[in-house]
Amino acid sequence: MTDGVLAGRVAIVTGGASGIGRASAGALATAGATVVVADLDPAGAEDAAASIRRAGGSAAAMTVDVGDVDDCGRLVAATVSEFGGLHILHANAGIAMPFRGDAFTPDADPEVWDRVIRVNLSGVFYCCHHAIPAMVASGGGSIITTGSSMSTLPLGGLDAYAASKGGVAMLTKSMAVGCGPLGVRVNAIGPGYVETPMNGVILDVPELTAAFAAGHADGNLQTPEEIGDLVVFLASDASRSLNGALLTCDRGWTSFKRP
Ligand SMILES: NC(=O)c1ccc[n+]([C@@H]2O[C@H](COP(=O)([O-])OP(=O)(O)OC[C@H]3O[C@@H](n4cnc5c(N)ncnc54)[C@H](O)[C@@H]3O)[C@@H](O)[C@H]2O)c1
Repeated sequence: MTDGVLAGRVAIVTGGASGIGRASAGALATAGATVVVADLDPAGAEDAAASIRRAGGSAAAMTVDVGDVDDCGRLVAATVSEFGGLHILHANAGIAMPFRGDAFTPDADPEVWDRVIRVNLSGVFYCCHHAIPAMVASGGGSIITTGSSMSTLPLGGLDAYAASKGGVAMLTKSMAVGCGPLGVRVNAIGPGYVETPMNGVILDVPELTAAFAAGHADGNLQTPEEIGDLVVFLASDASRSLNGALLTCDRGWTSFKRP
């Protein structure tokens, strides 16, 4: 099943049990990487890994809470111990937050803020903190972080989410500067609206689905698989000139109009 572009490389995908991460894990495995599907949901991670193995790829499931720095350390150590190194990290795990209307939200719950920032932003840092030395020891690597259209264009009322994704974009650029000389590239992807469980509140309401689809230049929501293909590109040497990039991959969402 593999085309070999990533043959011999070991990858971790956080949030790999569902949505974008699941598609990314599948695409990396199809390209030849051995993939560790890492997620808070052990059953979902095992299901995704098993599906890769059934298709002829190499994958294992590991449980992680990316909001726990020690857990991220255990994930990287277990990966290196089991597979002999680490070359690719898709730091992708993330959570949404309740949509409170297109308005400033001074009454928003500070606990929601703390949780969203911890998972979406600190979680990326925690994984990279442990992954970068492992990649250097493995001869170099590529980190792909998952930003969002909201890394640059907020949707009002989602303050913590927008701040977390803006932070991911800047963290990515900052790490790229430090990691370049070490042989590790760090790039972010910025999808628009993708058909995943995270967008259940949109997908469950036909009018909302239509409105959000219309905000993309071709009138369609995105698929997890198209994002997975981009992750393979960023993981591979074909993207060697990219470091510190926020790769907008939103079918024109941030160039077009909002619903
Ligand atoms: N769906 C979209 O439209 C969209 C657009 C732009 C960016 N994103 C981002 O893409 C990433 C993936 O989103 P998705 O749409 O695939 O969502 P999803 O809900 O389908 O998948 C998210 C996965 O992350 C896991 N997860 C949540 N918290 C975790 C934690 N603390 N530790 C480890 N795993 C955890 C979940 O169990 C789940 O498997 C997120 O960072 C999200 O913010 C999504």
